[in-house]
Formats: sequence, structure tokens, C-alpha cells
Amino acid sequence: MTGTQLARQSLARRAKRSVEQALGPWGVFFKGFVQHPVMVGSIIPSSRFTINRMLSRVDWQRCDLFVEYGPGVGTFCQPVLDRMKRDARLIVIDTNPLYIDYLNRTVTDGRFTAVLGSAADVQEIIAARGHEGADYILSGLPFSTLPDGVGPAIVDATHEVLRAGGAFLVYQFSARARSFMARRFSRIESDFEPLNVLPCRLFWGWKDQADASQHSLHDGAHASGRIGMHARAGAPA
Ligand SMILES: C[S@@+](CC[C@H](N)C(=O)[O-])C[C@H]1O[C@@H](n2cnc3c(N)ncnc32)[C@H](O)[C@@H]1O
Repeated sequence: MTGTQLARQSLARRAKRSVEQALGPWGVFFKGFVQHPVMVGSIIPSSRFTINRMLSRVDWQRCDLFVEYGPGVGTFCQPVLDRMKRDARLIVIDTNPLYIDYLNRTVTDGRFTAVLGSAADVQEIIAARGHEGADYILSGLPFSTLPDGVGPAIVDATHEVLRAGGAFLVYQFSARARSFMARRFSRIESDFEPLNVLPCRLFWGWKDQADASQHSLHDGAHASGRIGMHARAGAPA
């Protein structure tokens, strides 16, 4: 590459960074939406009302590992870090390299790790960072528009890695997320936040001790070939 080409490339990089700085996180979020509308599913990050309502049911003293799926530009990250214990950890997982790159540049808290990957691989992702299970998992994923089979796979993997007493926290514009959750979570609490663009539904799927034991029973039976995939999926709410 010639000196002129190098100079042009560095100028373009600097211009890109200035535009990003001028637009702030909303500009980066919107850019991600334009690139992958189906995977992002929204043009504006969640409101502080949604954040406060969604996090209000977390027992922070009992939280050692908090996982977030689809953090986007990190709307929930700082509020979660502000509430977490000093020795707890936050791992966020997103399929969009633009968002992961942005988070790595802007969130400097030592308790924070941003991973480029799919929520369906949560078990491998947390295990690779020394964790056997998570206490809370938050999802901003657009369940209704994810490719076929991805939503159910994510719910199954989530239930698997949650510790008994923990919860799967989900916010979505439609109530469809609840039917995905119901394949694994028998106790689901719901609420609604009008002050969000668009107004959204909130769900907390609790993993009770009974759920955890029933799950291992099912898995044992499944492993020995006594139970089929449909029975294993559980009853819809
Ligand atoms: C609606 S946006 C999240 C917005 C953000 N959490 C907020 O509150 O403003 C959905 C995010 O999910 C991510 N995503 C989509 N499919 C995913 C998957 N399978 N695993 C992880 N992240 C995914 C998208 O890249 C996007 O960042």
C-alpha cells in the first residue's frame, strides 16, 4: 500500500470515529439496525423506565454471575454494573461485531466481559470463562424475528445454565417471547412498560428448585431413551 493510500485510510478511520462520537450510542445502535434489521429488531435502545422495571426483581446480593443476551450498545450494562456486587461478573453476548467492538471500547469496568457469539452457546461461553452457572440472564433478543429454531434453542440453553432460584429476564414488544419461555419455565411473572419506544412487555421466568430437579429427571429419562423431544419440551402456559 502506498503512502497516499495509507493516509487516506487513516483519514477515513478518523472521520468514521468522529461521526460515531457525534451520533453517540444511538447512532451506533441505528447503524447496527440498518445492517441487520431482523436480528436487532428495534431502532431505538430501551428506555430507563424499562431498565428500572426489568431489574427491580433481581436479588443483587445473590448474584455472582449476570449474563445479558443482545446488549446492543450497552443500554443495560452500566445500570447492571451499578447494582452488582463488587466481586460479581457481567458477561454480555451479541452476534453483531459492531456492538461488541463498541462495548469493548466504551465499558471499562473490570467485572465486564463482552463476547461475540450467539446466546444459544451460553453454556460454552460462560464455561470458557470459568463459570458453571448463571444467577440471572437478561434478554433483549427479538424472539419473534429470530431464524426458525433459534429461540427454542436459546430458551433450552438458558434454563440449563441458570442456577435454582435464578431467573430469565425478557423484554419484548410482543407477548410471543412468553410462549418460547413457557417450554422450560413453569413460573413466569409478567408486567408492561408503557414508557418505551415501542411500549414493551416484561417477563421473569423463575427457575425453581422443583424445575431444576424435574429437568434433571427429564434429562436422565431422555438419555436412556424413555422420553421423546416433545414430552421434554413441557406444556405451554
Ligand atoms: C433489540 S436489540 C437489543 C437492544 C438493547 N439490549 C437495548 O436494550 O437497547 C437486539 C440485540 O440482539 C442481538 N442478537 C440477535 N440475535 C442474537 C443471538 N442469537 N445471540 C446474541 N445476540 C443476538 C442483536 O445483534 C441486537 O444487539
